[in-house]
Amino acid sequence: MNILQINSSARAEASHSTALAERIVSRLSAAEPRTASVVVRDLSRRPHPQLDEAALQALFTPTESRTPEQAARVALDDALIAELQAADALVIGAPMYNFGISAQLKNWIDAISRAKVTFRYTEDGPEGLLKGKTVYVALTRGGKYRNTPADTMVPYLEMVLSFLGMTHVHFVYAEGLAMGAAAEESAIASAYEQIEDAVSAQVSVEEPLAA
Ligand SMILES: Cc1cc2nc3c(=O)[nH]c(=O)nc-3n(C[C@H](O)[C@H](O)[C@H](O)COP(=O)(O)O)c2cc1C
Repeated sequence: MNILQINSSARAEASHSTALAERIVSRLSAAEPRTASVVVRDLSRRPHPQLDEAALQALFTPTESRTPEQAARVALDDALIAELQAADALVIGAPMYNFGISAQLKNWIDAISRAKVTFRYTEDGPEGLLKGKTVYVALTRGGKYRNTPADTMVPYLEMVLSFLGMTHVHFVYAEGLAMGAAAEESAIASAYEQIEDAVSAQVSVEEPLAA
């Protein structure tokens, strides 16, 4: 099983979402110790560039006509797409910033969403081309927004991941992290329980296939 971990906090150290993503990866790896391989894409230590005009021009220029700078810019996105295509499981650490996902995560989504490569339009409408993957998203928030209109992250991530073909998504919530030490401790304990549930649900789904 190839596992791709995306860290999207701005914090390289002391990030709860990264710690929870690591916990998910470690539990997935423990379930398949002989076959698990892990790639970590740390967008805090190595931020991906945003989709600016130069990047758009590079992407819309035919490969053979690109300048070396344009080719290098497209290659940055190509690398992220290749990592994702190779993954069986995708694990995302996703902090809430100002009621949405981080700019780091949005830049990653902009990089991996490419027409004719990760999705395409057919006569019947759009088709996601990243199929057969299981996704785990560790959500961290200072406040509590689960199942409220203020939670823009879950509907957005469900929609964009499904558009790209990734319809099997487990969300792990760590909420109330800014509401005092006791609330923080309880949020992390709850997130650990949610991780156990998500990983064991996945393993029990896959067992009959492996037999
Ligand atoms: C710039 C910034 C904006 C934030 N905005 C929100 C917010 O809108 N709602 C919320 O509940 N928490 C917000 N928080 C708190 C973070 O979601 C919380 O600290 C979380 O643990 C960050 O993830 P991390 O630990 O992986 O870095 C914000 C934190 C920062 C630094």
